[in-house]
Amino acid sequence: MLELKHISYRVTEAGAEQTILDDVSVAIPDGKLVVFTGPNGGGKTTLAKVIMGLVTPTGGQILYNGRDVTDLDITGRARLGISYGFQQPPRFKGITVRDLLTIASGDDKLTKDRCCHFLTQVGLCANDYLDREVDVSLSGGEVKRIEIATLLARGSELMIFDEPEAGIDLWSFARLTETFEAIHRTHSATMVIISHQERIIQLADEIIVVGDGRLQYRGSAEEVFPKIMADTTGSCPVLTRKEAANQ
Ligand SMILES: Nc1ncnc2c1ncn2[C@@H]1O[C@H](COP(=O)(O)OP(=O)(O)O)[C@@H](O)[C@H]1O
Ligand SMILES: [Mg+2]
Repeated sequence: MLELKHISYRVTEAGAEQTILDDVSVAIPDGKLVVFTGPNGGGKTTLAKVIMGLVTPTGGQILYNGRDVTDLDITGRARLGISYGFQQPPRFKGITVRDLLTIASGDDKLTKDRCCHFLTQVGLCANDYLDREVDVSLSGGEVKRIEIATLLARGSELMIFDEPEAGIDLWSFARLTETFEAIHRTHSATMVIISHQERIIQLADEIIVVGDGRLQYRGSAEEVFPKIMADTTGSCPVLTRKEAANQ
């Protein structure tokens, strides 16, 4: 079970304090699939980084399986079984796809068959990619898919995916959705997925809409979807917010 208690994150930029996360509390039980969605800039990635230990909150507490991990760094959290796939994954010059999968799996004799198993789930063919370096010669979408494959190879208890749909074609995306569904069905991991995709939202046990650094509303797909639709049609959200602030 992952518990965030009153998490806040404030930064000072050009002398002005800015609140990125504001008193966020949420509990995610083991084996659940929770989707965070909401407008760009709402705080979803920051929240994911707080869970992974890449961002230290300025207030609040994080518990993982009852243990306070608020001050634990990324390596410590990875050891506890938490993994995170970046919205924009880094590239690794000089390291091949096979190297990355091997490191992630913890099996230094990882077979081509197993690599193929992980890569197929993100729509990539091992023959084309295993010996390629994860450098600038790969497209953003390819790097993204390779990173998702490394998360699958790692097989963590808690996996956080930040907009896994970005840069992925429809066919590979359908396969990836099936993979998420299978992990969920077999309860082999807890998943936190940041996504705007209806197909992923439909898989979730709970959908949490994040906006302005707060949890705006939450519920099942049936409960939340009509609200999202109402929110996203009509007036421009940026202007609406500015108008509200000027009143
Ligand atoms: N370290 C930081 N300093 C200043 N602003 C930040 C910092 N981290 C995030 N932000 C801002 O916080 C807001 C939320 O960002 P983010 O978590 O990436 O949102 P989302 O993933 O929902 O699009 C954005 O406006 C972003 O520019
Ligand atoms: Mg983001």
